[in-house]
Amino acid sequence: MFQSARVAPIVGEIDRAMREAIAVRAICPSLAEAMEYAALGPGKRVRPVLAWLCGEAVGGHGRETLAAGVALEFVHAFSLVHDDLPAMDDDDLRRGRATLHVARGEAMAILAGDGLLTLAFDVLARDAGDTGLAGALMAELSAATIAMIGGQVLDTLGGDPPESAELRVRKVHEQKTGALIRAACRMGVIAGRGLAPGPKDPALDAVSTYADALGLIFQITDDLMDVEQEAGHVGKRVGKDLEAGKLTFPGVLGVEASRREVGRLLTVAHEALGPLAGAGRVLAELCDAIAHRTR
Ligand code: IPE
Ligand code: IPE
Ligand code: MG
Ligand code: MG
Ligand code: MG
Repeated sequence: MFQSARVAPIVGEIDRAMREAIAVRAICPSLAEAMEYAALGPGKRVRPVLAWLCGEAVGGHGRETLAAGVALEFVHAFSLVHDDLPAMDDDDLRRGRATLHVARGEAMAILAGDGLLTLAFDVLARDAGDTGLAGALMAELSAATIAMIGGQVLDTLGGDPPESAELRVRKVHEQKTGALIRAACRMGVIAGRGLAPGPKDPALDAVSTYADALGLIFQITDDLMDVEQEAGHVGKRVGKDLEAGKLTFPGVLGVEASRREVGRLLTVAHEALGPLAGAGRVLAELCDAIAHRTR
């Protein structure tokens, strides 16, 4: 799907826009180089692709979601750089290459993460359209980013609510991964229309329900890859979650029940796309591809 004739040109547009967003700003050269290393490595660009396709699904051309997509991918890249740090998951491999702190040092990795997060909001402020639209997009992205960071806190440091392990892992995954995926879909709708949303919005509700299911599918499949795949294939270390004592779906439910849960969530995601009719077809295909991904 990601190499398909449908999606590959979108990824090309996103990469060009990300490169330009860094190049046109007066950023200290070593910092700009580190930010580009983190953001433009060989990742899937799932979040900006989702924004583009959701923009198309509500009648846009897709291109009007580019600022939102760049901002989403910069926040995602920041989250990966910090996720890999020694104080977090302590990983040395990301997207088939050395993690940023291994390649450029820990201080630069922390600072490049700070830079990417800040640049995400600068892109929205300057490039996303009029102030009403930019404000609506910033509100979505800031809420999702703080939820993602909260999820990372729960994932890394644990939390104290007396819940079952299953409820807890759902909550971690909804926050650390689901929130940004939800924001991607919602920002795509908002940017695709070029309008801040009103109080009643069936298309926005539809993509939000789709995205909530997809966010969980995305992290459950990530957890399954950690158990079932090889580092050389995935491009990041595997077999680390158990060792690190992470709460994961296969750890809590087992591999088979995790796969069944992915199947259940796929049905939820497909049904949610009903109100978009034919315009939702490619979003359905994308979610199928993510449910069956191995990297
Ligand atoms: C990895 O995200 C981190 C998670 C939220 C599971 P992706 O699987 O989207 O990573 P890239 O961007 O393709 O490298
Ligand atoms: C990370 O989850 C989610 C983020 C917000 C970055 P993981 O720690 O499972 O992601 P990977 O496996 O390192 O990509
Ligand atoms: Mg992590
Ligand atoms: Mg990690
Ligand atoms: Mg993982």
